[in-house]
Amino acid sequence: MSLSVSVFGLGYVGSVSAACFASKGYKVIGVDVSQAKVEMMNSGRPPIIEARMNDLVAEASKACHLHATTDATEAVLNSDVSFVCVGTPSLKNGKLDLSHIEKVASEVGAAIRQKNQPHVFVLRSTVLPGTTENVVLPILEQESGKKCGRDFSVCYNPEFMREGSAVADFMNPPYTVLGASDTNHLAPLRQLYKDTPGTLYETTIPVAEMVKYFSNCYHAVKVVFANEMGTMCKNLGVDAEAVTKIFTSDTKLNISGAYLSPGFAFGGSCLPKDLRAITYKAKELDLRLPLLESLMPGNAEHVNRAVDMVMSTGKKKVAQLGLSFKAGTDDLRESPQVQLIKRLMGEGLEVRVWDEDVSLSRLAGANREYIEHVIPHIGSVLSADLESVVRGAEIVIIGNKSAKKEDLKRLLEPEQILIDLVHLNHTQRPQSSSQYEGICW
Ligand SMILES: NC(=O)c1ccc[n+]([C@@H]2O[C@H](COP(=O)([O-])OP(=O)(O)OC[C@H]3O[C@@H](n4cnc5c(N)ncnc54)[C@H](O)[C@@H]3O)[C@@H](O)[C@H]2O)c1
Repeated sequence: MSLSVSVFGLGYVGSVSAACFASKGYKVIGVDVSQAKVEMMNSGRPPIIEARMNDLVAEASKACHLHATTDATEAVLNSDVSFVCVGTPSLKNGKLDLSHIEKVASEVGAAIRQKNQPHVFVLRSTVLPGTTENVVLPILEQESGKKCGRDFSVCYNPEFMREGSAVADFMNPPYTVLGASDTNHLAPLRQLYKDTPGTLYETTIPVAEMVKYFSNCYHAVKVVFANEMGTMCKNLGVDAEAVTKIFTSDTKLNISGAYLSPGFAFGGSCLPKDLRAITYKAKELDLRLPLLESLMPGNAEHVNRAVDMVMSTGKKKVAQLGLSFKAGTDDLRESPQVQLIKRLMGEGLEVRVWDEDVSLSRLAGANREYIEHVIPHIGSVLSADLESVVRGAEIVIIGNKSAKKEDLKRLLEPEQILIDLVHLNHTQRPQSSSQYEGICW
Protein backbone atom coordinates (compact mmCIF):
# COMPACT_ATOMS: atom_id res chain seq x y z
CA MET A 1 0.00 0.00 0.00
CA SER A 2 3.05 2.28 0.13
CA LEU A 3 2.95 2.85 -3.64
CA SER A 4 2.06 6.32 -4.81
CA VAL A 5 0.80 7.12 -8.25
CA SER A 6 0.80 10.11 -10.59
CA VAL A 7 -1.77 10.31 -13.38
CA PHE A 8 -1.03 12.53 -16.39
CA GLY A 9 -4.12 13.86 -18.17
CA LEU A 10 -7.28 14.47 -16.16
CA GLY A 11 -9.75 13.73 -18.94
CA TYR A 12 -12.07 10.71 -18.97
CA VAL A 13 -9.47 7.99 -18.57
CA GLY A 14 -7.11 9.95 -16.31
CA SER A 15 -9.59 11.39 -13.85
CA VAL A 16 -11.42 8.07 -13.51
CA SER A 17 -8.12 6.19 -13.04
CA ALA A 18 -6.94 8.79 -10.49
CA ALA A 19 -10.19 8.72 -8.51
CA CYS A 20 -10.40 4.91 -8.55
CA PHE A 21 -6.78 4.35 -7.44
CA ALA A 22 -7.30 6.98 -4.70
CA SER A 23 -10.50 5.21 -3.59
CA LYS A 24 -8.44 2.02 -3.17
CA GLY A 25 -6.25 3.93 -0.71
CA TYR A 26 -3.28 4.85 -2.90
CA LYS A 27 -1.85 8.34 -2.78
CA VAL A 28 -2.58 9.87 -6.18
CA ILE A 29 -1.32 13.05 -7.83
CA GLY A 30 -3.26 14.14 -10.91
CA VAL A 31 -1.45 16.23 -13.53
CA ASP A 32 -2.99 18.30 -16.28
CA VAL A 33 -2.01 21.32 -18.37
CA SER A 34 -5.47 22.72 -17.73
CA GLN A 35 -5.41 24.89 -14.61
CA ALA A 36 -9.21 24.70 -14.52
CA LYS A 37 -9.21 20.86 -14.31
CA VAL A 38 -6.52 20.92 -11.63
CA GLU A 39 -8.51 23.42 -9.56
CA MET A 40 -11.68 21.38 -9.89
CA MET A 41 -9.94 18.23 -8.67
CA ASN A 42 -8.36 20.13 -5.79
CA SER A 43 -11.74 21.47 -4.74
CA GLY A 44 -13.09 17.91 -4.62
CA ARG A 45 -15.03 18.07 -7.91
CA PRO A 46 -14.35 15.84 -10.94
CA PRO A 47 -13.41 17.60 -14.19
CA ILE A 48 -15.78 15.31 -16.14
CA ILE A 49 -19.43 14.33 -15.83
CA GLU A 50 -19.46 10.62 -15.10
CA ALA A 51 -21.51 8.36 -12.83
CA ARG A 52 -20.07 7.91 -9.30
CA MET A 53 -17.22 10.38 -9.93
CA ASN A 54 -18.67 13.17 -7.74
CA ASP A 55 -18.62 10.94 -4.68
CA LEU A 56 -15.27 9.28 -5.44
CA VAL A 57 -13.42 12.56 -6.00
CA ALA A 58 -15.04 14.29 -3.01
CA GLU A 59 -14.18 11.38 -0.69
CA ALA A 60 -10.62 10.98 -2.01
CA SER A 61 -9.93 14.72 -1.64
CA LYS A 62 -11.32 14.73 1.88
CA ALA A 63 -9.13 11.76 2.81
CA CYS A 64 -6.13 13.60 1.27
CA HIS A 65 -5.55 10.67 -1.12
CA LEU A 66 -5.96 12.79 -4.23
CA HIS A 67 -4.55 16.11 -5.25
CA ALA A 68 -3.79 17.68 -8.61
CA THR A 69 -1.08 19.90 -10.05
CA THR A 70 0.19 21.34 -13.32
CA ASP A 71 3.75 20.58 -12.23
CA ALA A 72 4.95 17.37 -13.90
CA THR A 73 8.27 17.31 -12.04
CA GLU A 74 6.63 17.53 -8.63
CA ALA A 75 4.31 14.67 -9.60
CA VAL A 76 7.12 12.37 -10.77
CA LEU A 77 9.38 13.12 -7.80
CA ASN A 78 6.54 12.30 -5.41
CA SER A 79 5.27 9.11 -7.03
CA ASP A 80 6.55 5.64 -7.90
CA VAL A 81 4.39 5.04 -10.96
CA SER A 82 3.14 7.51 -13.61
CA PHE A 83 0.05 6.53 -15.60
CA VAL A 84 -0.11 8.57 -18.78
CA CYS A 85 -3.65 9.12 -20.03
CA VAL A 86 -3.33 12.19 -22.25
CA GLY A 87 -5.32 12.43 -25.46
CA THR A 88 -4.24 10.86 -28.75
CA PRO A 89 -6.60 12.63 -31.16
CA SER A 90 -6.71 12.17 -34.94
CA LEU A 91 -4.88 14.61 -37.19
CA LYS A 92 -6.79 15.79 -40.28
CA ASN A 93 -5.48 12.87 -42.34
CA GLY A 94 -6.44 10.29 -39.68
CA LYS A 95 -2.90 9.84 -38.37
CA LEU A 96 -2.58 9.63 -34.61
CA ASP A 97 -1.42 12.87 -32.98
CA LEU A 98 1.27 11.80 -30.51
CA SER A 99 2.31 15.34 -29.54
CA HIS A 100 0.70 15.21 -26.06
CA ILE A 101 2.35 11.87 -25.32
CA GLU A 102 5.73 13.10 -26.58
CA LYS A 103 5.47 16.21 -24.40
CA VAL A 104 4.61 14.17 -21.28
CA ALA A 105 7.41 11.68 -22.06
CA SER A 106 9.95 14.50 -22.21
CA GLU A 107 8.63 16.07 -18.99
CA VAL A 108 8.64 12.76 -17.13
CA GLY A 109 12.09 11.94 -18.58
CA ALA A 110 13.48 15.25 -17.34
CA ALA A 111 12.03 14.60 -13.89
CA ILE A 112 13.47 11.06 -13.82
CA ARG A 113 16.90 12.67 -14.40
CA GLN A 114 16.49 14.34 -10.97
CA LYS A 115 15.24 11.20 -9.25
CA ASN A 116 17.35 8.71 -7.31
CA GLN A 117 14.61 6.09 -7.02
CA PRO A 118 13.40 3.84 -9.86
CA HIS A 119 10.29 5.10 -11.63
CA VAL A 120 7.67 3.25 -13.71
CA PHE A 121 6.19 4.99 -16.77
CA VAL A 122 2.88 3.35 -17.74
CA LEU A 123 1.21 4.45 -20.95
CA ARG A 124 -2.58 4.06 -20.93
CA SER A 125 -3.46 6.25 -23.92
CA THR A 126 -4.44 4.30 -27.02
CA VAL A 127 -1.44 4.10 -29.36
CA LEU A 128 -0.49 1.96 -32.34
CA PRO A 129 1.91 -0.96 -31.76
CA GLY A 130 5.51 0.19 -31.64
CA THR A 131 4.70 3.64 -30.22
CA THR A 132 5.67 2.89 -26.62
CA GLU A 133 8.97 1.23 -27.48
CA ASN A 134 9.98 3.27 -30.53
CA VAL A 135 8.63 6.75 -29.71
CA VAL A 136 8.09 7.06 -25.95
CA LEU A 137 11.02 5.03 -24.63
CA PRO A 138 13.75 6.85 -26.63
CA ILE A 139 12.39 10.23 -25.43
CA LEU A 140 12.46 9.03 -21.82
CA GLU A 141 16.03 7.76 -22.18
CA GLN A 142 17.19 10.91 -23.90
CA GLU A 143 15.57 13.33 -21.45
CA SER A 144 16.53 11.36 -18.35
CA GLY A 145 20.02 10.40 -19.49
CA LYS A 146 19.21 7.02 -17.92
CA LYS A 147 18.58 3.50 -19.17
CA CYS A 148 15.20 1.81 -19.42
CA GLY A 149 15.22 -1.52 -17.58
CA ARG A 150 17.98 -0.37 -15.24
CA ASP A 151 17.02 3.07 -13.89
CA PHE A 152 13.35 3.18 -14.82
CA SER A 153 10.85 0.98 -16.63
CA VAL A 154 8.16 1.39 -19.26
CA CYS A 155 4.89 -0.56 -19.43
CA TYR A 156 1.72 -0.38 -21.49
CA ASN A 157 -1.67 -0.85 -19.85
CA PRO A 158 -4.63 -0.26 -22.17
CA GLU A 159 -7.90 1.00 -20.73
CA PHE A 160 -11.22 -0.62 -21.70
CA MET A 161 -13.64 1.68 -19.86
CA ARG A 162 -16.74 3.05 -21.55
CA GLU A 163 -17.90 6.59 -20.90
CA GLY A 164 -21.12 6.52 -18.86
CA SER A 165 -20.02 3.44 -16.90
CA ALA A 166 -16.32 4.30 -16.62
CA VAL A 167 -15.98 3.82 -12.85
CA ALA A 168 -17.83 0.50 -12.88
CA ASP A 169 -15.71 -0.62 -15.86
CA PHE A 170 -12.48 0.44 -14.13
CA MET A 171 -13.40 -1.46 -10.96
CA ASN A 172 -14.69 -4.51 -12.81
CA PRO A 173 -12.98 -4.74 -16.23
CA PRO A 174 -13.29 -7.70 -18.62
CA TYR A 175 -9.56 -8.19 -18.02
CA THR A 176 -6.40 -6.27 -17.20
CA VAL A 177 -3.66 -6.26 -19.81
CA LEU A 178 -0.11 -5.39 -18.81
CA GLY A 179 2.62 -5.13 -21.43
CA ALA A 180 6.33 -5.00 -20.65
CA SER A 181 9.58 -6.10 -22.27
CA ASP A 182 10.49 -7.81 -18.97
CA THR A 183 7.78 -9.11 -16.64
CA ASN A 184 9.86 -7.97 -13.64
CA HIS A 185 8.90 -4.41 -14.62
CA LEU A 186 5.30 -5.25 -13.83
CA ALA A 187 5.70 -5.84 -10.09
CA PRO A 188 4.22 -2.46 -9.00
CA LEU A 189 1.31 -2.86 -11.43
CA ARG A 190 0.54 -6.33 -10.10
CA GLN A 191 0.23 -4.73 -6.68
CA LEU A 192 -1.96 -1.86 -7.91
CA TYR A 193 -4.34 -4.28 -9.68
CA LYS A 194 -4.23 -7.10 -7.12
CA ASP A 195 -7.89 -6.72 -6.07
CA THR A 196 -9.20 -6.05 -9.57
CA PRO A 197 -11.50 -8.81 -10.81
CA GLY A 198 -10.99 -10.52 -14.19
CA THR A 199 -7.94 -12.20 -15.68
CA LEU A 200 -4.67 -10.30 -15.54
CA TYR A 201 -2.67 -10.86 -18.73
CA GLU A 202 1.05 -10.18 -18.78
CA THR A 203 2.33 -9.85 -22.31
CA THR A 204 4.65 -7.86 -24.56
CA ILE A 205 4.13 -4.15 -25.09
CA PRO A 206 3.12 -4.44 -28.81
CA VAL A 207 0.55 -7.15 -27.99
CA ALA A 208 -0.93 -4.98 -25.22
CA GLU A 209 -1.04 -1.99 -27.60
CA MET A 210 -2.72 -4.04 -30.34
CA VAL A 211 -5.33 -5.69 -28.08
CA LYS A 212 -6.92 -2.25 -27.73
CA TYR A 213 -7.21 -1.72 -31.50
CA PHE A 214 -8.37 -5.30 -32.08
CA SER A 215 -11.12 -4.65 -29.50
CA ASN A 216 -12.21 -1.23 -30.70
CA CYS A 217 -12.21 -2.18 -34.39
CA TYR A 218 -14.26 -5.27 -33.55
CA HIS A 219 -16.73 -3.23 -31.53
CA ALA A 220 -17.10 -0.85 -34.48
CA VAL A 221 -17.67 -3.81 -36.83
CA LYS A 222 -20.33 -5.19 -34.47
CA VAL A 223 -22.19 -1.88 -34.30
CA VAL A 224 -22.20 -1.32 -38.07
CA PHE A 225 -23.08 -4.98 -38.71
CA ALA A 226 -26.03 -4.88 -36.30
CA ASN A 227 -27.22 -1.60 -37.81
CA GLU A 228 -26.94 -2.83 -41.40
CA MET A 229 -28.68 -6.13 -40.63
CA GLY A 230 -31.33 -4.26 -38.63
CA THR A 231 -31.86 -1.94 -41.61
CA MET A 232 -32.25 -4.98 -43.84
CA CYS A 233 -34.78 -6.49 -41.42
CA LYS A 234 -36.79 -3.27 -41.27
CA ASN A 235 -36.90 -2.97 -45.05
CA LEU A 236 -37.92 -6.59 -45.44
CA GLY A 237 -40.66 -6.16 -42.84
CA VAL A 238 -38.91 -8.55 -40.42
CA ASP A 239 -38.85 -8.00 -36.64
CA ALA A 240 -35.17 -7.04 -36.04
CA GLU A 241 -35.46 -7.46 -32.28
CA ALA A 242 -36.77 -11.01 -32.57
CA VAL A 243 -33.98 -11.90 -35.01
CA THR A 244 -31.30 -10.35 -32.78
CA LYS A 245 -32.60 -12.11 -29.69
CA ILE A 246 -32.35 -15.52 -31.35
CA PHE A 247 -29.03 -14.68 -33.04
CA THR A 248 -27.30 -13.55 -29.83
CA SER A 249 -28.49 -16.61 -27.91
CA ASP A 250 -26.07 -18.74 -29.95
CA THR A 251 -22.86 -18.71 -27.93
CA LYS A 252 -21.31 -21.51 -30.00
CA LEU A 253 -20.91 -19.79 -33.34
CA ASN A 254 -22.31 -16.24 -33.07
CA ILE A 255 -21.25 -14.72 -29.74
CA SER A 256 -18.04 -16.66 -29.30
CA GLY A 257 -14.46 -16.92 -30.48
CA ALA A 258 -15.61 -18.87 -33.54
CA TYR A 259 -14.44 -17.34 -36.84
CA LEU A 260 -12.19 -14.91 -34.97
CA SER A 261 -8.90 -16.69 -35.45
CA PRO A 262 -6.83 -15.15 -38.26
CA GLY A 263 -6.71 -17.71 -41.06
CA PHE A 264 -7.54 -18.05 -44.75
CA ALA A 265 -10.44 -16.62 -46.75
CA PHE A 266 -13.95 -17.96 -46.26
CA GLY A 267 -15.54 -20.11 -48.94
CA GLY A 268 -17.83 -23.05 -49.40
CA SER A 269 -21.31 -23.32 -50.71
CA CYS A 270 -23.01 -20.94 -48.23
CA LEU A 271 -21.22 -17.78 -47.09
CA PRO A 272 -20.37 -16.31 -50.54
CA LYS A 273 -23.79 -17.21 -51.97
CA ASP A 274 -25.71 -15.84 -49.03
CA LEU A 275 -23.70 -12.62 -48.89
CA ARG A 276 -24.32 -12.07 -52.59
CA ALA A 277 -28.04 -12.69 -52.10
CA ILE A 278 -28.39 -10.24 -49.25
CA THR A 279 -26.33 -7.48 -50.88
CA TYR A 280 -28.24 -7.95 -54.16
CA LYS A 281 -31.51 -7.67 -52.26
CA ALA A 282 -30.21 -4.51 -50.57
CA LYS A 283 -29.54 -2.98 -54.00
CA GLU A 284 -33.07 -3.85 -55.10
CA LEU A 285 -34.32 -2.05 -51.99
CA ASP A 286 -32.08 0.96 -52.75
CA LEU A 287 -30.16 0.39 -49.52
CA ARG A 288 -26.45 1.07 -49.10
CA LEU A 289 -24.82 -1.45 -46.77
CA PRO A 290 -21.08 -0.69 -47.09
CA LEU A 291 -19.91 -3.18 -44.48
CA LEU A 292 -21.75 -6.16 -45.98
CA GLU A 293 -20.78 -5.03 -49.49
CA SER A 294 -17.12 -4.91 -48.45
CA LEU A 295 -16.96 -8.55 -47.32
CA MET A 296 -16.54 -10.31 -50.69
CA PRO A 297 -13.84 -7.83 -51.83
CA GLY A 298 -12.15 -8.16 -48.42
CA ASN A 299 -12.17 -11.93 -48.80
CA ALA A 300 -10.77 -11.77 -52.35
CA GLU A 301 -8.01 -9.48 -51.11
CA HIS A 302 -6.95 -12.20 -48.69
CA VAL A 303 -6.51 -14.63 -51.61
CA ASN A 304 -4.43 -11.92 -53.36
CA ARG A 305 -2.29 -11.73 -50.22
CA ALA A 306 -1.62 -15.49 -50.42
CA VAL A 307 -0.71 -15.19 -54.12
CA ASP A 308 1.66 -12.29 -53.37
CA MET A 309 3.23 -14.24 -50.55
CA VAL A 310 4.00 -17.20 -52.82
CA MET A 311 5.18 -14.99 -55.72
CA SER A 312 7.48 -12.98 -53.47
CA THR A 313 9.54 -16.11 -52.74
CA GLY A 314 10.59 -16.21 -56.41
CA LYS A 315 10.17 -20.01 -56.32
CA LYS A 316 8.32 -21.96 -59.01
CA LYS A 317 7.41 -25.37 -57.63
CA VAL A 318 4.43 -25.39 -55.28
CA ALA A 319 2.75 -28.19 -53.34
CA GLN A 320 -0.66 -27.27 -52.02
CA LEU A 321 -2.00 -29.55 -49.28
CA GLY A 322 -5.76 -29.15 -49.20
CA LEU A 323 -8.08 -28.21 -52.03
CA SER A 324 -11.48 -28.08 -50.33
CA PHE A 325 -12.36 -25.08 -48.17
CA LYS A 326 -11.97 -27.16 -45.03
CA ALA A 327 -10.62 -30.57 -44.10
CA GLY A 328 -13.05 -33.47 -43.99
CA THR A 329 -15.18 -32.31 -46.92
CA ASP A 330 -14.89 -32.65 -50.68
CA ASP A 331 -17.02 -29.57 -51.34
CA LEU A 332 -14.99 -27.47 -53.75
CA ARG A 333 -17.64 -24.87 -54.54
CA GLU A 334 -16.20 -21.41 -53.99
CA SER A 335 -13.19 -22.86 -52.23
CA PRO A 336 -10.62 -20.04 -51.87
CA GLN A 337 -7.96 -22.77 -52.02
CA VAL A 338 -9.17 -23.55 -55.56
CA GLN A 339 -9.00 -19.83 -56.41
CA LEU A 340 -5.46 -19.67 -55.08
CA ILE A 341 -4.33 -22.66 -57.15
CA LYS A 342 -5.93 -21.24 -60.28
CA ARG A 343 -4.13 -17.92 -59.73
CA LEU A 344 -0.78 -19.55 -59.08
CA MET A 345 -1.11 -21.67 -62.22
CA GLY A 346 -2.04 -18.52 -64.13
CA GLU A 347 1.22 -16.98 -62.92
CA GLY A 348 3.07 -19.88 -64.54
CA LEU A 349 3.92 -21.75 -61.35
CA GLU A 350 4.18 -25.52 -61.29
CA VAL A 351 1.48 -26.53 -58.80
CA ARG A 352 0.75 -30.00 -57.45
CA VAL A 353 -2.20 -30.57 -55.14
CA TRP A 354 -2.91 -33.17 -52.49
CA ASP A 355 -6.26 -33.57 -50.76
CA GLU A 356 -7.22 -36.85 -49.12
CA ASP A 357 -10.91 -35.99 -49.21
CA VAL A 358 -11.07 -35.05 -52.88
CA SER A 359 -11.05 -37.70 -55.56
CA LEU A 360 -12.14 -36.53 -58.99
CA SER A 361 -13.72 -39.86 -59.78
CA ARG A 362 -16.01 -39.50 -56.76
CA LEU A 363 -16.99 -35.86 -57.35
CA ALA A 364 -20.46 -35.44 -58.75
CA GLY A 365 -23.09 -32.85 -59.62
CA ALA A 366 -22.55 -29.15 -58.96
CA ASN A 367 -19.29 -29.86 -57.18
CA ARG A 368 -17.70 -31.58 -60.19
CA GLU A 369 -19.08 -29.00 -62.62
CA TYR A 370 -17.61 -26.24 -60.48
CA ILE A 371 -14.05 -27.58 -60.35
CA GLU A 372 -14.03 -28.61 -64.01
CA HIS A 373 -15.19 -25.13 -64.96
CA VAL A 374 -12.69 -23.26 -62.73
CA ILE A 375 -9.64 -25.50 -63.27
CA PRO A 376 -10.38 -27.72 -66.30
CA HIS A 377 -7.04 -29.55 -66.02
CA ILE A 378 -7.28 -30.15 -62.23
CA GLY A 379 -6.98 -33.90 -62.86
CA SER A 380 -3.39 -33.54 -64.01
CA VAL A 381 -2.22 -31.78 -60.82
CA LEU A 382 -4.31 -33.50 -58.14
CA SER A 383 -2.82 -36.52 -56.41
CA ALA A 384 -3.73 -38.70 -53.45
CA ASP A 385 -0.05 -39.43 -52.81
CA LEU A 386 1.16 -36.88 -50.25
CA GLU A 387 4.79 -37.92 -50.52
CA SER A 388 5.03 -37.43 -54.27
CA VAL A 389 3.33 -34.01 -54.00
CA VAL A 390 5.61 -32.72 -51.26
CA ARG A 391 8.85 -34.14 -52.68
CA GLY A 392 10.43 -31.75 -55.14
CA ALA A 393 8.32 -28.74 -54.10
CA GLU A 394 10.10 -25.54 -53.14
CA ILE A 395 7.04 -24.15 -51.37
CA VAL A 396 4.51 -26.18 -49.39
CA ILE A 397 1.19 -24.46 -48.76
CA ILE A 398 -0.96 -25.73 -45.90
CA GLY A 399 -4.33 -25.12 -47.54
CA ASN A 400 -6.51 -26.87 -44.96
CA LYS A 401 -5.97 -28.95 -41.86
CA SER A 402 -6.01 -32.40 -43.48
CA ALA A 403 -2.23 -33.02 -43.57
CA LYS A 404 -0.99 -34.64 -40.37
CA LYS A 405 1.92 -33.20 -38.45
CA GLU A 406 3.82 -36.51 -38.38
CA ASP A 407 3.56 -36.82 -42.17
CA LEU A 408 4.75 -33.26 -42.67
CA LYS A 409 7.59 -33.78 -40.21
CA ARG A 410 8.67 -36.89 -42.11
CA LEU A 411 8.39 -35.38 -45.58
CA LEU A 412 9.39 -31.73 -45.30
CA GLU A 413 12.96 -30.81 -46.17
CA PRO A 414 14.69 -27.97 -44.31
CA GLU A 415 15.03 -25.83 -47.44
CA GLN A 416 11.30 -26.01 -48.28
CA ILE A 417 9.27 -22.91 -47.46
CA LEU A 418 6.11 -23.61 -45.50
CA ILE A 419 3.20 -21.22 -46.01
CA ASP A 420 0.41 -21.76 -43.49
CA LEU A 421 -3.04 -20.51 -44.45
CA VAL A 422 -4.94 -22.26 -41.68
CA HIS A 423 -3.19 -21.17 -38.51
CA LEU A 424 -1.79 -24.48 -37.33
CA ASN A 425 -1.28 -24.15 -33.61
CA HIS A 426 2.31 -24.12 -32.41
CA THR A 427 2.32 -27.80 -31.45
CA GLN A 428 1.04 -28.80 -34.91
CA ARG A 429 3.66 -26.81 -36.82
CA PRO A 430 6.40 -29.02 -38.21
CA GLN A 431 9.84 -27.73 -37.32
CA SER A 432 11.41 -29.56 -40.25
CA SER A 433 11.08 -26.60 -42.62
CA SER A 434 13.45 -23.74 -41.84
CA GLN A 435 11.10 -21.09 -43.19
CA TYR A 436 7.57 -20.92 -41.80
CA GLU A 437 5.20 -18.08 -42.76
CA GLY A 438 1.63 -17.64 -41.56
CA ILE A 439 -0.58 -15.68 -43.93
CA CYS A 440 -1.66 -13.15 -41.30
CA TRP A 441 0.19 -13.96 -38.09
N1 LIG B 1 -12.58 8.22 -23.32
C1 LIG B 1 -12.61 6.93 -23.24
O1 LIG B 1 -13.65 6.34 -22.95
C2 LIG B 1 -11.38 6.12 -23.46
C3 LIG B 1 -11.37 4.76 -23.14
C4 LIG B 1 -10.22 4.02 -23.29
C5 LIG B 1 -9.07 4.62 -23.81
N2 LIG B 1 -9.10 5.95 -24.13
C6 LIG B 1 -7.85 6.55 -24.63
O2 LIG B 1 -7.24 7.21 -23.52
C7 LIG B 1 -6.60 8.42 -23.94
C8 LIG B 1 -7.19 9.60 -23.21
O3 LIG B 1 -8.55 9.71 -23.57
P1 LIG B 1 -9.52 10.71 -22.81
O4 LIG B 1 -10.86 10.52 -23.42
O5 LIG B 1 -9.35 10.55 -21.36
O6 LIG B 1 -8.91 12.12 -23.29
P2 LIG B 1 -9.36 13.58 -22.85
O7 LIG B 1 -9.19 14.44 -24.05
O8 LIG B 1 -10.67 13.53 -22.15
O9 LIG B 1 -8.27 13.98 -21.75
C9 LIG B 1 -6.94 14.19 -22.04
C10 LIG B 1 -6.39 15.13 -20.98
O10 LIG B 1 -4.98 15.23 -21.14
C11 LIG B 1 -4.62 16.55 -20.82
N3 LIG B 1 -3.28 16.85 -21.34
C12 LIG B 1 -2.89 17.12 -22.61
N4 LIG B 1 -1.56 17.35 -22.65
C13 LIG B 1 -1.10 17.18 -21.39
C14 LIG B 1 0.18 17.27 -20.80
N5 LIG B 1 1.27 17.56 -21.52
N6 LIG B 1 0.29 17.04 -19.48
C15 LIG B 1 -0.80 16.76 -18.71
N7 LIG B 1 -2.06 16.67 -19.23
C16 LIG B 1 -2.19 16.87 -20.55
C17 LIG B 1 -5.73 17.39 -21.43
O11 LIG B 1 -5.76 18.71 -20.89
C18 LIG B 1 -6.95 16.56 -21.06
O12 LIG B 1 -7.47 16.93 -19.82
C19 LIG B 1 -6.77 8.47 -25.47
O13 LIG B 1 -5.66 7.88 -26.06
C20 LIG B 1 -8.01 7.63 -25.69
O14 LIG B 1 -8.03 7.07 -26.98
C21 LIG B 1 -10.21 6.71 -23.97
